[in-house]
Amino acid sequence: MIGFGRRWDPTGKLAVVTGASSGIGQSIAMQLVSRDCHVIAVARRQQRLDELAESYSDRFTPVVGDITSESTRQRIVDTVGSHGRSLDLLVNNAGVGAIGPFESASPERLRGVMEVNFFAVAELTRSLLPMLRRSSDAVICNVSSVLGHCAVPDKSEYCASKFALHGWSDSLRAELADQSIGVTLVSPSTTRSEFFDVLVDSGDAVSKSLGSWPPQRVARAAIKAIERRRSEVILSVGGKLLVYADRLCPPLMARVLRKRKR
Ligand SMILES: NC(=O)c1ccc[n+]([C@@H]2O[C@H](COP(=O)([O-])OP(=O)(O)OC[C@H]3O[C@@H](n4cnc5c(N)ncnc54)[C@H](OP(=O)(O)O)[C@@H]3O)[C@@H](O)[C@H]2O)c1
Repeated sequence: MIGFGRRWDPTGKLAVVTGASSGIGQSIAMQLVSRDCHVIAVARRQQRLDELAESYSDRFTPVVGDITSESTRQRIVDTVGSHGRSLDLLVNNAGVGAIGPFESASPERLRGVMEVNFFAVAELTRSLLPMLRRSSDAVICNVSSVLGHCAVPDKSEYCASKFALHGWSDSLRAELADQSIGVTLVSPSTTRSEFFDVLVDSGDAVSKSLGSWPPQRVARAAIKAIERRRSEVILSVGGKLLVYADRLCPPLMARVLRKRKR
């Protein structure tokens, strides 16, 4: 059974963090490393990971590659295996966004977003479950979004991918409940990262969001949720308002979102 009542402690643990070359993932990786956790850091930009590895070589192992590729996922599994021990934490953080109406968007945009934000996450997790199971106290942390709880216009592919991640996380949590593996779903609101500079096939579209958190703050909240073994955390007051208003009164939220679109 998971160590209920006792905090999950990163000290001396082994973690995999995807999307560790920027934003939330980089901050999560750095905060874990600074607390004596060894991090296997995954992303496509080698230079970014190499720079981090230079500063933290004894507790930081980069794996350069695209998580949608099976060969990258196999290299992650092999890298965990080379440590000759169990895996204690998997942070599925890598993700991409897209903005703009659904009808005129390409089928590739839908596929691209779903591949990174959902299918790659599910398959990487499937591959790493045997190593997580060997830990006496493992956690899978899935970085979702408030848009995985409440859908908004012009982000249909992204909302679909994060709703899928949400549903899959809830199901997996129940499946793993008696196997010493916790599942924490972290749902940030708008975060000041490189996310909006690399949108998939979205032209000059901009996101209309009020207020935002720096990635370091999101990372602190995510690690706190892991430590406290939370099933789900929704970050920021605005995010909570959006999600709880939608849960309490869906027709009202539908009206608000229709007005916002005009
Ligand atoms: N920013 C926001 O407003 C916001 C709000 C709510 C939720 N989120 C979620 O938070 C997570 C992190 O986003 P962020 O804001 O930190 O954005 P970010 O700065 O753009 O970071 C995204 C990370 O994912 C990696 N990545 C993207 N595609 C990848 C792929 N195919 N294979 C491997 N790595 C890949 C990127 O690295 P490389 O480019 O080097 O591969 C980068 O390290 C995402 O899941 C996002 O959906 C973000």
